[in-house]
Formats: sequence, structure tokens, C-alpha cells
Amino acid sequence: MNNQLILKAARGEKVDRTPVWIMRQAGRILPEYRGLRKKVKDFKELVKTPELACEVTLQPVEILGVDAAIIFSDILVIPEAMGLPYEMKEQFGPFFEKTIATQSDIDNLRIASEEDLSYVTDAIKLVKSALNGKVPLIGFAGAPWTVLSYMIEGQGSKTFSTARKFLYTKPELSHQLLEKITESTINYLKAQIEAGADMLQLFDSWAGILSPDQYREFGIPYIEKICSSLGEDTPMIVFAKGANFALKELSALNCDVIGIDWNMEIANVRAQVPNKTLQGNLDPALLYSDTAKVAAATTSMLNTFGPDRHIANLGHGVYPDTPLDSVKAFINTVKEHRFE
Ligand code: CP3
Repeated sequence: MNNQLILKAARGEKVDRTPVWIMRQAGRILPEYRGLRKKVKDFKELVKTPELACEVTLQPVEILGVDAAIIFSDILVIPEAMGLPYEMKEQFGPFFEKTIATQSDIDNLRIASEEDLSYVTDAIKLVKSALNGKVPLIGFAGAPWTVLSYMIEGQGSKTFSTARKFLYTKPELSHQLLEKITESTINYLKAQIEAGADMLQLFDSWAGILSPDQYREFGIPYIEKICSSLGEDTPMIVFAKGANFALKELSALNCDVIGIDWNMEIANVRAQVPNKTLQGNLDPALLYSDTAKVAAATTSMLNTFGPDRHIANLGHGVYPDTPLDSVKAFINTVKEHRFE
């Protein structure tokens, strides 16, 4: 592997400069993606056609010069592999025709296996061969709570109140469903490693809407189970958006990197998570500023994190209408920064 910066930083080794990638980099910010997307029926055709998923995965590496690729897919492939198919509706987002509400709904779900998701592992193999060691490839999955929230809710939501109601009123069923998602995710991530993923990220996008007690009961234990099932060779990033209240629990996870969002105070997180590499955390909305302001904010962020145990990223996925000049200013500022 030519560029090992991100793997080294994840393991806490010294690096010549801070590595950088961007959550949701493989998608709608790039005109090249939008061009390809217009030629296919829908988002799922891209995800399920390994040659196309490979092409989209490589775009940000070539065009933006990031230090890692992330496989083009979605966290919702897991519900589909368990028997709950999703649609990605234009101008709307994810939509599930059926949702989970009862014991028999859960009994009818299967544990996803490697074969159910061979379109992802085939894409990973193509990407690995095309990258030819240029940069590492990140595989990913949704964390069980976030995946459950879509399976109950059936679509995106500002409050996810139906999913949170389910945790309060049906805790037994919630644990059964989380268990099935966790087993499916372990099979899936093991298959991604087998296919060539060099590093993994768990996206817990809706961690921050649970109470601390709920997150301790329904979030953390399932993440821990996944982390502990995958062996030590592949670094794992856990991104629990909004989980400021759970830093102690996150620091105890069997993972290498904790992703943090822009609401978190860097020094405070360092103090509470001294044993791990941190990833983040520029506000994605800051990229709507002019490039000089982006560069200044990025430099300040780098200095606050310091030279060790940091992977530069945004605090959440890049917004689709972000000016590309700002995205490039962010990446190039990180790549040019040197610590005295
Ligand atoms: O990082 C990457 O670029 C790799 C690809 C990737 C996608 N989804 C492709 C995608 C990744 C890592 C995801 C993760 C994902 N998907 C998350 C967790 C990260 C986060 O942002 O919190 C979540 C919650 C989802 C579910 C999802 N998929 C939603 C809510 C939506 C609609 C809104 C949106 O963000 O676009 C999607 C659609 C989706 N997933 C698109 C892409 C490129 C847009 C589809 C299109 O091209 O129209």
C-alpha cells in the first residue's frame, strides 16, 4: 500500500501529516457522479452494479485526492438483505413499503449472510484491484440502532419518534431486532474484510437522539458486539453522531477510532477519550464559506487536534450542494499543513 497514512493514524502511529477523507464523499457533490447517475434507472442500480459502484468509489480519490476511498453503497442494504427491501425515492430519500412493528415481523426477518450482499463484496474486489494500493479502502455499515430506526420508521424523520416509542414500549422486541441486525452486520463486515476492505466505519447517525440511558441499553452493547467480533487486523471507526453524553462508553469500545461531530469540543473529547484516534470534525455547513475562511477554519481545527491520533474529516456527511472549491480547499489545507 503506497499511502498508509490513515491506517497508521488509526493505530496511533506517527504520521508525516494528518490524513483526510470526507464522509459521503462518493456521491452527489461530484458532477461526475451526477452524470453517471442520470444514465441509470435509480440509485439502487448504481449500488447493485459492481462496475458502476466501483467507478463512483474511485471518483473522489482521483478528483479530490483524498487519503482513502469508501465503498459506494448504503447502510440500508442490511434491512434489504434481511427481507425488508427499501426504495430510494427521488427528492424524498429512503422509503420502506413494509416496516417492523410486531413479533411476527421480526420472526420473518432472516439473518443476512455474505451471499445476500455479494454485489457489495464484488464491488470491493473491483475497487481494490483498480486502486492497486494507491490508498486504503474503507468498508462500512450502519450501527444497529440507526438501522433499526429506519426499519421501524420506514423513512427518514426529524424526530424518529416511532422508533424511540418502540424502544420504550417494546424493549423486548427492540432487543430481538437489534440482535438480528447485529448478527447480519457482523456477517456483512466480515465479508467486506475478506473481500479486501482495509478499514471499517460504523455510522450511528441517530445516536444523539436517544437519552443516555437508552443509548447505553440499545446502542453501545450492539456496537461493542460488532467491534469485538471482527478481530484486531482491520481498524474500526465508530461514528456516533451527537453522542457527547456517551464519550466514556465510546472510549471503552473495542475500536481504534471515534468519529466526532462539530458540536463536540475537541479538547473535551481528547480528555474523555485519551486512548483512541479521533476523526472529524469540521461543520459541513462551514464549507459554504469562501475558500479563505475554509482554509483558516481547517488550520485551526488541525492545530486543536494536534499532530497525533487525528484523521481529518467533516463532523457529518458533506451536503450535496456544497461548492467543490470549498471541498478542495478543505482537503488541500489538510494535506499542506505541517506541524512545527
Ligand atoms: O460515503 C460515501 O460517499 C459512500 C456512500 C454512502 C451513501 N450512503 C450513498 C448514498 C454512505 C456511507 C451512506 C451512508 C448512509 N446512508 C447513512 C449514514 C451516514 C449519514 O449521512 O448519516 C444514512 C443515514 C443513510 C441513509 C440514506 N441514504 C439517506 C437518509 C439518504 C437520502 C438523503 C441523502 O443523504 O442523500 C440516502 C441516499 C444516498 N445514499 C445517496 C447516496 C449517494 C443519494 C442518492 C442519490 O444519488 O440521489
